[in-house]
Amino acid sequence: MTDQHGATPMIEVRALRKSFGEHEVLKGVDLAVARGEVVAIIGPSGSGKSTLLRCMNLLEQPSSGEVWFEGTQINLPGVDVNRVRMRMGMVFQLFNLFPHLTVLDNVTLAQTKVLRTGRDEAQERARALLAKVGLAAKEQAYPNSLSGGQKQRVAIARALAMRPAVMLFDEPTSALDPEMVQEVLATMDELVREGMTMVVVTHEMGFARRAADRIVFVDEGSIVAQAPPERFFGAPASARVRQFLEKIPT
Ligand SMILES: Nc1ncnc2c1ncn2[C@@H]1O[C@H](COP(=O)(O)OP(=O)(O)O)[C@@H](O)[C@H]1O
Ligand SMILES: [Mg+2]
Repeated sequence: MTDQHGATPMIEVRALRKSFGEHEVLKGVDLAVARGEVVAIIGPSGSGKSTLLRCMNLLEQPSSGEVWFEGTQINLPGVDVNRVRMRMGMVFQLFNLFPHLTVLDNVTLAQTKVLRTGRDEAQERARALLAKVGLAAKEQAYPNSLSGGQKQRVAIARALAMRPAVMLFDEPTSALDPEMVQEVLATMDELVREGMTMVVVTHEMGFARRAADRIVFVDEGSIVAQAPPERFFGAPASARVRQFLEKIPT
């Protein structure tokens, strides 16, 4: 329930298993993320990273095990999943913006529809967030006129508009042209500086090294190594980790 400092983790999964048919994708994962902590999840393609993230906000139902959020078990019958998800911002590899809405409306919509924020207040917050991600000038643009990096920054602003307690990122820069990766990572760096709790699946080792409090290495559905970045990269725990790191540009 509590970590070594006696605090309740923001998110915790215990003995988490997930199968798709016969295929067991998560094989008993235990992971607690503290309030204000930044955890980078890395590992080979197909190892279960996205599934782990999606189980945390119940986009996938675990086959067994427990998911806890802010001290409450959330994978139980009767839990209002939408309410829980509202508290967790999620940014995907592909941007999932509403193509028929302007940038401003993309960032305003859920505030008015879900949070029932008044239109003026929602727009004011949206404008502040667009300024924060460097897109104040684009509020009347439609998503298809934006670069991939700009779309992803709108997606981040849209998630932040819901005042989430935690932000989950699933390879937010993997679909971007290289020149746009840094602008998105810079936005994420700023969230880190502000103390946002973040779980980030990424192949960007530079970001993981500078921004994460902890690196979690997932392989074949299990956490096989975890450590603060300095130790994780400086003294890899196993041949498997070394082998993975050698193949990935840093
Ligand atoms: N909805 C699904 N149905 C069936 N198999 C899935 C589904 N989602 C993921 N998988 C499988 O689970 C494994 C892990 O996938 P994923 O969590 O996406 O890995 P990663 O994000 O590490 O690349 C893969 O073999 C993938 O094909
Ligand atoms: Mg994935």
